[in-house]
Amino acid sequence: MSSYAVTGSASGIGAAVTGRLRAAGHSVIEVDLHDADILADLGTPEGRSAAGAGVLERSGGVLDGAVLAAGIGPSPGPDRPRKIAQINQLGTVELLTALRPALAASGDARAVVFGSNSASVTPGVPRRVIRALRAGEIDRAVRTLRLFGPVAPNIAYAASKIAVTDWARRAAVTPAWAGAGIRLNVLSPGPVQTPLLDEELANPAAARAFRAFPIPIGGVGDPGHLADWVMTMLSPAAAFLCGSVIVVDGGSEAWLRAGEW
Ligand code: NAI
Repeated sequence: MSSYAVTGSASGIGAAVTGRLRAAGHSVIEVDLHDADILADLGTPEGRSAAGAGVLERSGGVLDGAVLAAGIGPSPGPDRPRKIAQINQLGTVELLTALRPALAASGDARAVVFGSNSASVTPGVPRRVIRALRAGEIDRAVRTLRLFGPVAPNIAYAASKIAVTDWARRAAVTPAWAGAGIRLNVLSPGPVQTPLLDEELANPAAARAFRAFPIPIGGVGDPGHLADWVMTMLSPAAAFLCGSVIVVDGGSEAWLRAGEW
């Protein structure tokens, strides 16, 4: 039996991962806003430090894996770009950094961070937003994002996923991660049938854009599809997987970007 932490465990893909891990006999420490072992708002510094301390306490300081699935989508809403950056980026990077010593203590651990194919298929994400997010300067990123008006949440979402993917790839190959036996990788889904997607498509403009979005296999993903990929990324099969971005999106990215090489 191994011990895992899963954020975003109460819904969608995180819930599917939690179910798969428990069914395989592992112990899971759930982190979410509701219906979880540790209730914490990963969008705030206090929530992130409470979640980190809670996981370290419950795990006894040794974790075999962490799955960072908590996130919000690009729906409209007050101050949404800021919340997207705080939850999707800081809620992943800062919490995973706090858990690193427990992962290192296992000697052979796995960490899976959630990106999105939005990171590679959203046009026009300004480099200065990405640079600001990388530097942790959320206010600076938000000032530029305001210029995008109604599509600011979409640009913020893509930028948050670029920033988190970039962070994971840089960290994954360092002595603190690869050298400590931790295999850190990114899973980048395309549209998956979860409450996050339902909320996004409740916005008529987003629903219209979605109808024009190519998904070559002919439909959206199921949380279980993604959970199966997470299980592989947590398994011994991932011993040689390090800093990789696994795109699981029904072919959208290939459709939009094939031929760029
Ligand atoms: P979901 O909405 O079903 O689940 C997300 C979970 O994160 C919820 O349980 C929610 O309570 C939790 N969460 C949200 N804000 C939080 C906060 N401040 N603190 C703690 N927990 C918080 O979403 P889904 O679809 O399962 O998303 C999982 C991951 O996959 C996210 O990172 C998302 O960005 C990513 N993703 C999802 C896609 C989709 O189409 N569903 C596409 C691409 C990426």
